[in-house]
Amino acid sequence: MSHESTVPGELGNPAVDAAEVPEPGAVTIVVPTFNESGNVRRLLRLITDAVPARLPCEVVFVDDSTDDTPDVIRAAAPDCPFPVTVLHRDEPAGGLGGAVVEGMKAAGSDWIVVMDGDCQHPPSLVPELVATGERTGAGLVVASRYVKGGSRAGLAGSYRIAVSRAATWLTKALFPRRLHGISDPMSGFFAIRRSEVTAEVLAPLGYKILLELAVRSRPQTVTEVPFVFEERFAGESKSTAQEGMRFLRHLAGLRTASPLARMVAFGLIGLSGFLPNLAALWAFTEAGLHYLPAEIAANQFGVAWNFLLLERLLFRDRRRHRHWADRTVRFALIANADLVLRIPLIALLVGQFGLAVLPATALALVITFVLRFAGTEALVYLPRRRRTAARTARSDA
Ligand code: GDD
Ligand code: MN
Repeated sequence: MSHESTVPGELGNPAVDAAEVPEPGAVTIVVPTFNESGNVRRLLRLITDAVPARLPCEVVFVDDSTDDTPDVIRAAAPDCPFPVTVLHRDEPAGGLGGAVVEGMKAAGSDWIVVMDGDCQHPPSLVPELVATGERTGAGLVVASRYVKGGSRAGLAGSYRIAVSRAATWLTKALFPRRLHGISDPMSGFFAIRRSEVTAEVLAPLGYKILLELAVRSRPQTVTEVPFVFEERFAGESKSTAQEGMRFLRHLAGLRTASPLARMVAFGLIGLSGFLPNLAALWAFTEAGLHYLPAEIAANQFGVAWNFLLLERLLFRDRRRHRHWADRTVRFALIANADLVLRIPLIALLVGQFGLAVLPATALALVITFVLRFAGTEALVYLPRRRRTAARTARSDA
């Protein structure tokens, strides 16, 4: 990463221990920017108007732009009564979220406020976010569009509104405890105490850095302040359908970081595999096939379905140490071993206990599930031992 600083205030190298940064301000405003040259000057003016002289403040832009945004910031900086810094990254690792974490690492103040560079987040709220945190003792203060007094006026179009609402609902459903008290986990506008940020455990992926912080850094107490999400001042939104997919991957990674959660997810994916399996079984038996060969053929549909979902969602970050062909063969072998065990089991349940084919199959699927989970974890996706440490740091993200 290359970084440039502008006068009047040097933050120094972000790798340097924050304690060594001279005279830290009380609040560091971290602004991720990607081609926001039409907005940054206005943003700095609004921050200047909003932040009272008694609140020591500094602004850190973490920039991945391909336009002249850093130059515009540098030109505007001398007009500001506070230090303004640009960290320009050559490699936009982690996208928006990665940029925010970089800025947080550079911060030396007690409070960090994160906000967008396109003036959709009103800077007039910055002092209130920090004051609310000080007053209530909260470690995290979220500017929310969904509490009384807030609104998402500037969210362009019913499509964006629907996507945002669905994402909020899904995220809240997946993390009911972690996100308790946060009505707007999608917000990119919040204040957090620097002492609450555990930057080393954060592995942000694109947008939604607040979610990452709430789930991994786990601030003790959280409070919210309403805000009106304004219209973007200039330029275009950088969020795309691709960002949406990245968000879903981020959610899956966050949710399955612990072994127990992973087993539950494995089970849910396995459950969903019942559908193609039983549908194919029904089709084959309807077509007049004897149920035993029908079982074997139908099982392949469930196996393929499970493999694809597991690869895409659950083990996405654990695939690298084995070639895809290696994984496919191993997975298929485990599924076959599973089948070898399951067919006599089904035959036993049908022949000895008089169960019908479908319930017998369902029961056998459940019994063999546990064996299959253990086998898949251990034989297909378990990182080789000597590389475990490095892998944990990189993957569970
Ligand atoms: N450094 C960096 N790198 N900044 C980025 C990147 C990136 O890859 N991608 C986007 N940004 C910056 C933009 O320049 C802007 O300052 C800010 O991140 C938000 O990007 P927008 O493209 O304006 O996002 P949005 O308006 O669609 O999304 C907003 O609403 C969401 C809630 O619906 C943002 O506030 C999100 O943070 C928020 O979660
Ligand atoms: Mn925006």
